Amino acid sequence: TWQLGDFAQAAIEQIRSLVGDARVICGLSGGVDSSVVAALLYKAIGPQLSCILVDNGLLRKDEQVMVIQEFTKHFKTDLHVVEAEDRFMETLEGISEPQEKRRRIGHAFIECFKEEAVKIKDAHFLAQGTLYPDVIESGADLDGPAATIKLHHNVGGLPEELGFELIEPLRDLFKDEVRRLGLELGLPESLVWRHPFPGPGLAVRCLGEVTREKLKVLREADSIVVNEIKAAGLYRETSQSFAVLLPVQSVGVMGDARTYDNAVAIRSVKTDDFMTADWSRLPYDLLARISTRIINEVAGINRVCYDISSKPPATIEWE
Ligand code: XMP
Repeated sequence: TWQLGDFAQAAIEQIRSLVGDARVICGLSGGVDSSVVAALLYKAIGPQLSCILVDNGLLRKDEQVMVIQEFTKHFKTDLHVVEAEDRFMETLEGISEPQEKRRRIGHAFIECFKEEAVKIKDAHFLAQGTLYPDVIESGADLDGPAATIKLHHNVGGLPEELGFELIEPLRDLFKDEVRRLGLELGLPESLVWRHPFPGPGLAVRCLGEVTREKLKVLREADSIVVNEIKAAGLYRETSQSFAVLLPVQSVGVMGDARTYDNAVAIRSVKTDDFMTADWSRLPYDLLARISTRIINEVAGINRVCYDISSKPPATIEWE
């Protein structure tokens, strides 16, 4: 890790000389990337840092509370929480096409972020946790026709609109390097080893139209998946594990009654760089426990499937 120690020191010095005594705004999602950016900035410029957390209503179970707790424990800086669930639900109403969902979420995010950012006085810079794979997948560093695989809403757009200068200190790093950097900067393992979570959140795991009711179901199922994998001691063996709510109903039987409920897919992958991935060979007993618990505990679900597709050709997310 000596190389990352050097990297951190160089990045800190670079940030200091770039920023001077201006204020820097950092979007915080609770994920590894934005936390590492915040930690790096905090080390570099301390009280000149303001963070903004947009709660888009698409976060995982108890996530907002956890982020605030973890955050306030590690950084004594200016934190702005924007409660924006209603706004996101409104803009997603009736929309089921994946790219359109992403576009709308990205747009709403920018609006919310902007409204909060303009309240922060003397801000001149905006820090983002863009990683190398984001840069590649968005086509930002490609010549000729950009190979946009998916729209990553955390790349581009925002800083120009706000007249901010962009700081992307993780732009050259892969995920595993970001994690090691986080540890180097003193972030706790529980945060550093959290599985990545996409910007558009549960919306891309709630296939088709997103509604509050569906999100509630998905949140419960997802929390069971993650907790059971953790309990089995396999969380860190997998790179990303979550539930996907399918827009498919199937017939089942509960007690004496026929059911016609939704299906949930379990997605768990192992990857080094998130550009290719293999599905996790989770033990059957673990899959059985997850399935039984979801079907028994989550109303509206009567079937659980396991996704055994690798990337490529499938992507990690279903949308
Ligand atoms: P895919 O589904 O493309 O995902 O194999 C690769 C990695 O990127 C995450 N992901 C996103 N992250 N905004 C993000 O910030 C997005 O729109 C987005 N789409 C996918 C995904 O969770 C996985 O880690």
